[in-house]
Order: sequence, then structure tokens, then C-alpha cells
Amino acid sequence: MIIAIDGPAGSGKSTIAKLIAEDLGLVYLDTGAMYRLVTLKALNDGILGDLEEIKKMLDNLNIDIKENSFYLDDIDVSEEIRKPVVSENVSNIAAIREVREKMVDLQRKFSESKNVILDGRDIGTVVFPNADVKIFLVADAKERANRRYKELVKKGENVKIEEIYENILKRDEIDSTRKESPLKKAKNAIEVDTTSKNIEEVKNEILNICSKYS
Ligand code: C5P
Repeated sequence: MIIAIDGPAGSGKSTIAKLIAEDLGLVYLDTGAMYRLVTLKALNDGILGDLEEIKKMLDNLNIDIKENSFYLDDIDVSEEIRKPVVSENVSNIAAIREVREKMVDLQRKFSESKNVILDGRDIGTVVFPNADVKIFLVADAKERANRRYKELVKKGENVKIEEIYENILKRDEIDSTRKESPLKKAKNAIEVDTTSKNIEEVKNEILNICSKYS
């Protein structure tokens, strides 16, 4: 069983995917976190704009995911990968073909012989085009920015809502116009708009869809 949840930044994918995973007893994979790990590594190594160095770095990349914690070179960086500096750079890193090939390969290996739910941008279109259920989650950009803002403030981050809004718009633009696996709704995906809906409502809507299509 494979459930694919795609959609733009801040549409609620990871919150919902975690809840559906619990409810249906699936393993959850946050593929956005994987691109964030690669971005953090490039930032730490000071090679952000250097395509050749990034490609070389991929050969020795040491990332791991254990129970919703994310590791880079055996260090838990679950907090760091959510920082604004990573959000500002991740879409450019995720647009690199070699980065995507490596991540998609890892995502497929991770999902082998498991019942899984994955969230991302290209799960239903590229990673698992034959997924049992495909959801495309959308929400008004202002509301998405507001949700991210609240999340980050709760974690003690000093952020401005305008900057988060700009970052969300910029990421959506890069993610949906890039050459490699752009963000788009798969032909047979079901669109769910989460604007003005609470988490429980969205969860139930998606559980309903899952029970019909799987
Ligand atoms: O889901 P999240 O917002 O954490 O994803 C961070 C970034 O990773 C996205 O803006 C996008 O550039 C990239 N991404 C991707 N493909 C995925 C998941 C995320 O390109 N499957």
C-alpha cells in the first residue's frame, strides 16, 4: 500500500501524513526533509553554489531517518533543517537532477516491502506513479504562511510573517517551474483544499478517500 501526498509548501502535508500513518498503521516518509538534509550539508560544507562539489558530496552523503528524527553524519539535525536559512536554499538544491535521482532512489528503497505514506512534490508523478492513493493538498498562500509562522514561533524562532510568505511564494515558483520533476498534480490525484479547514476535518476527508480508493 502506497499513499502519495503532494502539494505546495505549508499546505499541511506532513501534519496530515503523520496522522494518517498512525490511523492506518503506515510508515511515514517526509521526503522534503531529505532535500533539507542535503541542503544543510551543502551549507555546512560551504558549497551551496558549486554544482560539481554538490555532485561529489552526494557520493559520500550520510543521511538517516529514524522515527521522525533526521540525521546528517550521525548527528540529529531535526531542528536545524527547519531553519529559515535551509528553507531559503532548499528549492535550488532540489532542482538539481543528480540530487533528485539520489533522493528518489533512496525513497523507493525505503518503501520496499512496507505500507507507506510519503509526502513531497513529485511522489504521485515520479516516485510512485502507481501509488494506490494520490492526494494533492492545496491551501491559500496567506493561510499557509500563517501556519508556518505559528509553527516557527512556537519553536522559539524569531521570524517575520512577511518573510515566510515571500519564501513560500518563491519556493512554489521554483518547485513548479523547474525542469526536473516539477510540482504538479498527478492526473489521477484527488485535490483537497485545506484552507479554513481544521486538521481533524482534513484528516477525515483523506481517510474517506483512502477507504474508497485502496
Ligand atoms: O516539504 P518541505 O517544504 O519541507 O520541502 C522542502 C523543499 O524540498 C521543497 O520546497 C522542494 O523544493 C523540495 N522537495 C522536492 N521534492 C519532494 C519534496 C520536497 O523537490 N518530493
